Amino acid sequence: MQSTGPASDAALAGQRVAVLTKVGGWASHVLADARDAVAVPDGVTAAQAEAVVVNGITAWQMLHRRARVRAGQTVLVHGAGGGVGSVLAQLALAAGVAVIGTASPRHHDALRELGVTPLDYRTGNVPGRVRELAPGGVDAVFDHVGGRSVIDSWQLLAPGGTLVAYGSASTRDDTGSKQLPVLKILARTWLWNALPNGRRACFYNIWAGKALQQSRFRARLHADLGEVLAAVRRGEVTALIGAQLPLASAAEALRLAESGTVTGKIVLTP
Ligand SMILES: NC(=O)c1ccc[n+]([C@@H]2O[C@H](COP(=O)([O-])OP(=O)(O)OC[C@H]3O[C@@H](n4cnc5c(N)ncnc54)[C@H](OP(=O)(O)O)[C@@H]3O)[C@@H](O)[C@H]2O)c1
Repeated sequence: MQSTGPASDAALAGQRVAVLTKVGGWASHVLADARDAVAVPDGVTAAQAEAVVVNGITAWQMLHRRARVRAGQTVLVHGAGGGVGSVLAQLALAAGVAVIGTASPRHHDALRELGVTPLDYRTGNVPGRVRELAPGGVDAVFDHVGGRSVIDSWQLLAPGGTLVAYGSASTRDDTGSKQLPVLKILARTWLWNALPNGRRACFYNIWAGKALQQSRFRARLHADLGEVLAAVRRGEVTALIGAQLPLASAAEALRLAESGTVTGKIVLTP
């Protein structure tokens, strides 16, 4: 670990730490700035911590910094059986928020056990079912699906509600530009925010602010990942680990992740 100052060194001495890396994380050793390291509490394993770094920060920031949910509200989480969605659903429930979650039927029992109301996005009329469950609309929607789904998500919001878009999974296998579908979502959010309709929309990007507002970015990351790791330690969030494979089996791990047959993160171990 790179040494950046006595305060960081002293605070982290002897600690297990987690770091959000953009690239280069698939390695036995990584050189990181000590100011980016967040202490992992006792009782949280390395694999559990790994499973919630990207998913946990994303989920926490969308829920508490973008949508700013409050106890008693109802939210719609797309892909509630997935990596980000499952952490998001659990953090929302821990905050006293009711969760409707779209997922394939293979996730439904586990979601019900958590307290989520699951909806099958493959066969059901999702907007219609959400309107039945929340006739006044939902207070926030978290949408990584993109395309038509973003429009439905926006229309499902209650007055004062927030749409947080963060991906475009529905166009993942399309040929052509990867940026265009995201630009379309951005254009829609700008347009919706410009209209006087009492609702808000945004596109969340975990890396936003890293280059231009570095100390703010770092402070938020510390606080938010710290909250997520504490929630894992308290048992409020279960870090879903689908499989653990050695680093040398990274290709197999990728195939497994892409197969859509595993629930939870595929964790590489050095
Ligand atoms: N913007 C950011 O900063 C940021 C940060 C992190 C992740 N992301 C994005 O977030 C997305 C999710 O990441 P992840 O790690 O959670 O992936 P993941 O573990 O593969 O989960 C994605 C889930 O999406 C579900 N899904 C696929 N198509 C769907 C649809 N049409 N409607 C509803 N659900 C659908 C799948 O559900 P079933 O298994 O139930 O079929 C799957 O569980 C990715 O697109 C990723 O790029 C963005």
